[in-house]
Amino acid sequence: MQPIPEPRELSKSDIAQTVQDFRRAAAAAIEAGADGVEIHGANGYLLHQFLSSNANQRTDEYGGSVENRIRFAVEVATAVADEIGPGRTGFRISPGNPFNDIVEDDLPQLYGALVPALAGLGLAYLHVAHGGDETLLKSIRGDWPGALLLNRPGTDLQTRVSDLENGLADVITVGSMALANPDLVARARAGAPLNEPDRTTFYGGDERGYTDYPTLAESTA
Ligand SMILES: Cc1cc2nc3c(=O)[nH]c(=O)nc-3n(C[C@H](O)[C@H](O)[C@H](O)COP(=O)(O)O)c2cc1C
Repeated sequence: MQPIPEPRELSKSDIAQTVQDFRRAAAAAIEAGADGVEIHGANGYLLHQFLSSNANQRTDEYGGSVENRIRFAVEVATAVADEIGPGRTGFRISPGNPFNDIVEDDLPQLYGALVPALAGLGLAYLHVAHGGDETLLKSIRGDWPGALLLNRPGTDLQTRVSDLENGLADVITVGSMALANPDLVARARAGAPLNEPDRTTFYGGDERGYTDYPTLAESTA
């Protein structure tokens, strides 16, 4: 972690420039060989700050009402989908996740506006990093006509698989479990035990905790 300057409010032209930056980044990703991009509207990063009711203190058309707070996210998604095609564009949200001090005091209204607006763009998928509100999750599922990817933080594989079986998600995503198990699929198929992720090596340092978890074969040997 490094010291950072105190954030300032983006000007209108900064916002327009940032939309173009997302567009250019998406084009560059495709040019570099990526199949698609996931727009990060989650976890307290820039788009989520606009969505939130505490970080967003703007008084123009990008702040205040829910319709205004979703505007930047929808503009970015529209630009990226236009640039590389909606079928190559995904979007990640984390409704109710207070990570990075985010507050959303009107969750049903906020995501009840954002998700249908994104649905109108025909994106490849919506990726929900679940913040814990099950009612909200069901309602998002109902508002999203396409593929829904679900990340249920910190839960075991069987819990996540049950989201597929009961139709809440089309795809489940895994973070730390995949990090700690280079052969996660083989282990899941075999019903083998999983390596525990080592949290002390998350978010930096060196290769430890990134490239040195053993496969099942290596553990057994
Ligand atoms: C090493 C590591 C790095 C991560 N980096 C980010 C990140 O840069 N941005 C982000 O939004 N989430 C990040 N995450 C969070 C994951 O996307 C995921 O939501 C979280 O780990 C909870 O899901 P899980 O239980 O499947 O790991 C990171 C997680 C880990 C373990």
